[in-house]
Amino acid sequence: MSSDVRDDLTLPVTSTDAAQAITAAASGFAGSADPTLVTPEIAAMAPYSPGRPWRQVARELGLAEADLLQLAANENALGPSARAVAAAANALSDAHLYPDGGFSALRAALAARHGVTPQHIAVGNGSNEIIELLVRTFLGPGQTMVTSWPSFVVYRLAVQAAGREALIAPLRNDRYDLAAMAALVDSRTQLVFIANPNNPTGTYVPRRELAAFLDRIPRQVIVVVDEAYAEFADAPDYPDAIRDFGHHPRLVVLRTFSKIYGLAGLRVGYGIMDPALVHYLDCVRQPYNVNGPGQAAALAALEDETHLRASQRLAREGKAQLTEGLARLGLSVVPSQTNFLVVRLGREASPVVDRLRAAGVLVRDMRGYDMPDTIRVTVGTRAQNMTVLEILGRALDG
Ligand SMILES: Cc1ncc(COP(=O)(O)O)c(C=O)c1O
Repeated sequence: MSSDVRDDLTLPVTSTDAAQAITAAASGFAGSADPTLVTPEIAAMAPYSPGRPWRQVARELGLAEADLLQLAANENALGPSARAVAAAANALSDAHLYPDGGFSALRAALAARHGVTPQHIAVGNGSNEIIELLVRTFLGPGQTMVTSWPSFVVYRLAVQAAGREALIAPLRNDRYDLAAMAALVDSRTQLVFIANPNNPTGTYVPRRELAAFLDRIPRQVIVVVDEAYAEFADAPDYPDAIRDFGHHPRLVVLRTFSKIYGLAGLRVGYGIMDPALVHYLDCVRQPYNVNGPGQAAALAALEDETHLRASQRLAREGKAQLTEGLARLGLSVVPSQTNFLVVRLGREASPVVDRLRAAGVLVRDMRGYDMPDTIRVTVGTRAQNMTVLEILGRALDG
């Protein structure tokens, strides 16, 4: 269970939000905000809000820690692979030594997994670090990034912090609208981010649509396909972008050990891309950006197919269980290729989120994603899902 709701970010994305953001930022520290210290873009940002530590929340509610359901951050309800935990524990005895700054064992294993060379792999402190590095490394003055919304907020956050411009084509029917995104691509476009499947909606871009998009946009644009939830996807037309489009010279595919591998706390993610792009990221990144226990755990997790299959089954069966139970409560969900579900409540969700929290169930309030009448629920174990359904039923009744 993580204390840190990884995507619980409030990003002021329009200039009208700026004053509010400065006030919010200022309330977080003892001094007073001085926007002249930073760029206007940074002055308009609010700091990342990690959510309250779950142990503290459990204590406040008078619950045993095991009885608090943390279903807000799309972590793996099965936990990590026992083999990964043992490997990380073993690596701790080398804690006095710097880790392998070139990730040789992990990159070799990832290369074999994806049918590329180790030179095609960049490893980061979570895939978040690679998102940030891509922006810092490749998005120059006057260049733009194109993405969608509601989608993973870190794309826009990284661009705003770098003082660059993000162009947004809104989702259409909860899905990425690649035709609308292609229309925003021009000679200034350097980067495109596509979350596939998307967080927070769980929807996906089919192979045929991604192929048409890649054909349509100029070859020099770097297209980042963020596949943080790929291992959960089972739709026949869901594209594995490296397998299906790996020949594209400017394609970057992001994966993470935080989701299906259950290692969110160790912060390991990776990107697959042309070695020339990896080279530039290597120039910009910190040395030793991923610690030794994290690298060891990731390597062991990759070898644990049994844990992977069990995690896939848990998500698939849990989605069916939740979808059915929610239908009995008169609620519908957005069909999801991930380990979470967006539930349409048909009313303002925040009071329901508060009632769920009071009963020990943490789910994602979607106001920050401009979806205020929905909640996002991570799929739990069978027993956890039953609890969620029961408590949600009561929360809806007030
Ligand atoms: C779409 C997407 N990409 C990337 C990430 C970042 O994951 P991490 O930095 O833990 O690898 C997340 C986490 O929630 C996500 O939902």
